[in-house]
Amino acid sequence: MTVILGLESSCDDSAVALVTSDRRILAQAVVGQNAAHQPYGGVVPEIAARAHVEILPGLVRQVLGEANLSIADVDAIAATAGPGLIGGVMVALLTGKGLALSAGKPLIAVNHLEGHALSPRLVDPDLGFPYLLLLVSGGHCQLLEVSGVDKYRRLATTIDDAAGEAFDKAAKLLGLGYPGGPAIEALAESGDPSSVALPRPLAGSPEPHFSFAGLKSAVQRAVASGQHAREDIAASFQQAVVDCLLDRTSNALAKTDAPALVVAGGVAANHAIRGALSELAAREGREFSVPPAWLCTDNAAMIAWAGAERFAAGVFDALDAPARARWPL
Ligand code: KG4
Ligand code: ZN
Repeated sequence: MTVILGLESSCDDSAVALVTSDRRILAQAVVGQNAAHQPYGGVVPEIAARAHVEILPGLVRQVLGEANLSIADVDAIAATAGPGLIGGVMVALLTGKGLALSAGKPLIAVNHLEGHALSPRLVDPDLGFPYLLLLVSGGHCQLLEVSGVDKYRRLATTIDDAAGEAFDKAAKLLGLGYPGGPAIEALAESGDPSSVALPRPLAGSPEPHFSFAGLKSAVQRAVASGQHAREDIAASFQQAVVDCLLDRTSNALAKTDAPALVVAGGVAANHAIRGALSELAAREGREFSVPPAWLCTDNAAMIAWAGAERFAAGVFDALDAPARARWPL
């Protein structure tokens, strides 16, 4: 049994977690910065990076204390090394390097997307490889066949916006705060999803990719028309995203005989999306797995778990591991 310390700071959440190779989360903490970025309607990289510098080291001390462990009890340090806002990425990576160097522990430089991709296996011991993964976050919208650590086959990506980005942009148009996903989901509850006619970009297309830019423009026109209640636009928008994700995922399912469909990333916290994909998996005769909402949005437990999977595979990194703004899986 190994104990991995995970560090995450690639966007606007500072997070630290201690996770074991037998799937126990010994302690974890996430400190978000929503209030700091609210006035700007999105994450300001400079503000985020400075906040991580202030918050992350204290979280390491707090999490070790809660687990009653010292750094000497940890087997490896797993730190997000990208992709993300580079100033923020450097905070977790350098903190990890400092801890690894001073405590004489191995460093594991984790791809944040691999953190999301493997996160379902932290809570679902029965989920084996391969699986078809719908990875939907603020920066990414991809369908990947996951066959193991470092074994990813990308079947689709977005040609413009990511799904979470679409939620955030639509929320801004509706005058809702950042992050937009949870705000739209809450408002959509009281709206009629069939009341506003919105497009489903690329739905039915033989090509595999996603597109959300046209949907955003249509929301902009619906808001400008002044003819629709905000909750109806929110509900219709959410339904359009659900339909796009379903269509593209069933297109990909036809290309893989992976026995399970998995959805992860911040947008997977959305209940309408979880429900629709679960039904799709049942119709297609595949298993379905989605992590709890707290594990879908950014956290360090998923980084520590990706570290545990890499540790088991014997994959470590040198102290000159680079921080990467871009790092496709
Ligand atoms: O994975 P994540 O926490 O950070 C990135 O790696 O991007 O994803 C954040 C994204 C944001 O765009 C946010 O609006 C979206 O996930 N999100 C949601 C929900 N909760 C978070 N989108 C739709 N419904 C939600 N409940
Ligand atoms: Zn993320």
